[in-house]
Amino acid sequence: MKIFIDTADLQEIREACTWGIVDGLTTNPSLIRRAVEGQSNVDIEAHIEEICRLVPGPVSLEVASLGTEAMVAEAVGLHNRFNGIAGNIVIKIPANTSTGDEEPDFEGLKAICDLARRGIPVNATLVMTPEQALLCAKAGAAYVSPFMGRVDDYASRAGDESITAKPSAGSQLVSDIAHIFRTYGFECQIIAASVRHVTHVRDAELAGAHIATIPFSVLLTMARHPKTSEGVLRFTDDLVPSYSELLATLAAP
Ligand code: E4P
Repeated sequence: MKIFIDTADLQEIREACTWGIVDGLTTNPSLIRRAVEGQSNVDIEAHIEEICRLVPGPVSLEVASLGTEAMVAEAVGLHNRFNGIAGNIVIKIPANTSTGDEEPDFEGLKAICDLARRGIPVNATLVMTPEQALLCAKAGAAYVSPFMGRVDDYASRAGDESITAKPSAGSQLVSDIAHIFRTYGFECQIIAASVRHVTHVRDAELAGAHIATIPFSVLLTMARHPKTSEGVLRFTDDLVPSYSELLATLAAP
């Protein structure tokens, strides 16, 4: 499973890239807000350019409009502006941009279809059901992003007892989409998103997600284990001087 980092914070991106584990990156308007909030004179173009240069893989940028025509115009604009830097721009389009019952439900799908025909890769975002994932894949999305954490939140607010069960509703969502895509041979890749903790990461891997997009705070916890730390301490305590001296000699420039 590939690992994308779910952030627009340059310090977090730079640090995680030194670990050799970053295959791509996802942003959304909230993550960009968090990254630049409090800074005066933000040069957002330079900020995004730097992200494109730093990340060794696809970079998802999200549109803000809700109608098909406006979303396509923003998507084409973002792609034209930033794809030349590293050829890695993917456009995030919501599976459905409706904000209420009276709104049309298919603006997102129409935008995905239009962009796919233009050869612009789309990451269908805010996917909360297998049916939305199916529609987005059929419309031509290169990626779908099921939102594990938000689906868990929704299930828990709805009083769904299964929220305490394992797998959680969000984990089940990723697993169902993976099963459907495998069964019908969709090439669309699954990005497990809205990842809140290490269990989501493991469930995404076990479910067969192609990618998990993981916040920096969760990445920080993934390498930890008390027995690993205990082992490091024990090996340090057990070092005999001769071995320690040999290592120092060999490591000397
Ligand atoms: C990534 O593509 C998503 O936008 C992100 O994972 C959403 O995470 P959140 O539900 O924690 O805001």
